Amino acid sequence: MSTTPIVPMSSPDLTELERQAVMAVLNTPHLSMGSRIEAFEQAMCDFSGRRHAIGVNSGTAGLHLCVRAAGIGPGDLVITTPFSFVASTNVLLFEQATPVFVDVDPKTGNISPALAAEAAADLSNGLPELRQKWLPRRGAALTGGRLKAILSVDVFGQPADYDPLRRTAGQYGLKLIEDACEALGAEYKGAKAGRLGDAGVYAFYPNKQITTGEGGMIVTDDAEAAAMMRALRNQGRAPGDTWLQHTFLGYNYRLDEMSAALGVAQMSRLEELLQKRERVAAWYLERLAEIAWVEPPQVAETTTRVSWFVYVIRLKPGIDRAAVALRLADLGIPVRPYFLPIHLQPYMMERFGYLPGDFPVTEDLGERGLALPFSGKMSEEQVEVVCSALAIAGG
Ligand SMILES: Cc1ncc(COP(=O)(O)O)c(C=O)c1O
Repeated sequence: MSTTPIVPMSSPDLTELERQAVMAVLNTPHLSMGSRIEAFEQAMCDFSGRRHAIGVNSGTAGLHLCVRAAGIGPGDLVITTPFSFVASTNVLLFEQATPVFVDVDPKTGNISPALAAEAAADLSNGLPELRQKWLPRRGAALTGGRLKAILSVDVFGQPADYDPLRRTAGQYGLKLIEDACEALGAEYKGAKAGRLGDAGVYAFYPNKQITTGEGGMIVTDDAEAAAMMRALRNQGRAPGDTWLQHTFLGYNYRLDEMSAALGVAQMSRLEELLQKRERVAAWYLERLAEIAWVEPPQVAETTTRVSWFVYVIRLKPGIDRAAVALRLADLGIPVRPYFLPIHLQPYMMERFGYLPGDFPVTEDLGERGLALPFSGKMSEEQVEVVCSALAIAGG
């Protein structure tokens, strides 16, 4: 039987500044498409160094708009990772495109650039016998489907390896979409996550580095794609359209003013928020060194700053994760297995015929990963409580 958690799994870091910012909006008649979304988008341009930022009501919506703007449609192929939150693949399915999974780097859990390059070479070649190796057992045509893009994910706040990914994208004329939903503030060789592909997307769910409740932000330097994404976010209204004219098939992916105001206030504290999370991660690292059957998160040499989103440890092979999680729950410590690989989600197995064993590195990480309670608000004592319970739970 699990008891009431004594440490929360995550908690947003909000101050009076944020509360006042939201209240200020509520004292105006402008609850959507007003000055706050403009200010939030400007803050994101300033932060990322990108020319355009488009605020949307979720990270998923942002990724979907990137897929639409890249012209990805039915039957098109997109190289991506099975070790991610499902949204990074779902946005391809929304457009009847086929995700082509390649396995991940065992250290970071990010897409393997070498496998992505191999897949791109074989899929661009057009020979069915070369394509077959990468395509799912069913649900994708062996010929015809054109390779259009790479969609990479910066898993757990650590950027994927973009130099080789960019080379592959350039070589085969592919768009590179960066899912930075978990990585606001992370850096790859000194460059900020979100600016490492043609377009990047951040997300602001309450467990994220900054939160707007629900929300997301696309950043890009591509003016044409940005204009298209702005139109699609707003029910397909192109510049010059009236409220009831819709040039394109669009969506209501707008971010409301209350959320945007919260975002502006949170962005003004981003460095503080990142540093608080770094401090908690450092406490964990120190304390976990005492537990022999636990591997702390590993950081790639190319990562010049981790933006700690979640704190996912790996249990050494042979440790029963489910039993550990149950014992921790009994001790009042909530934990989550991270991730159940996307190719093994029931709807993916049914549609594409994936089977256990298809992506061994992803599956190994998925079987051994355990997210511990994490937020920038955790105290050193709380980290100690979690780690003491963990030490007991493995015994
Ligand atoms: C890697 C990744 N992609 C996409 C998303 C989707 O973001 P949202 O929940 O804001 O739609 C998330 C959210 O957790 C994520 O972790």
